[in-house]
Amino acid sequence: MPNPKSAPILLCKLADLQPTGAFNAILTHRDKDLDLIITMDPDGTVHGYHNVCPHIQTPLETFPHEFLDRNDPSLIVCSTHGARFRLSDGKCLSGPCFGQSLSPVTVTKRQGEIFLLPD
Ligand code: FES
Repeated sequence: MPNPKSAPILLCKLADLQPTGAFNAILTHRDKDLDLIITMDPDGTVHGYHNVCPHIQTPLETFPHEFLDRNDPSLIVCSTHGARFRLSDGKCLSGPCFGQSLSPVTVTKRQGEIFLLPD
């Protein structure tokens, strides 16, 4: 019998990514608050990261759901000091936390919806 604590958790619909290319999902799981960035590559691969910049542990966005670099949507940008992270693996390519990475979570898409796969 599957453990209900590890059952997939609905985060958003694919359509929720359309306006900005990303979605901020906030939920509580196992008594922990989760603040997540959900994004998708042009090839349809979805990615999820904790919304915590490795520089000084702040959320990345200033405006709701706006995480991607407007000039290069393959990058997630931190609005505090401008660090830029590769969308596909969360690695910081420029800025004060160069070489560090966003902390990933495991996500998957099914039938137009994106789910968190808890550890
Ligand atoms: S807090 Fe993100 S770059 Fe400084």
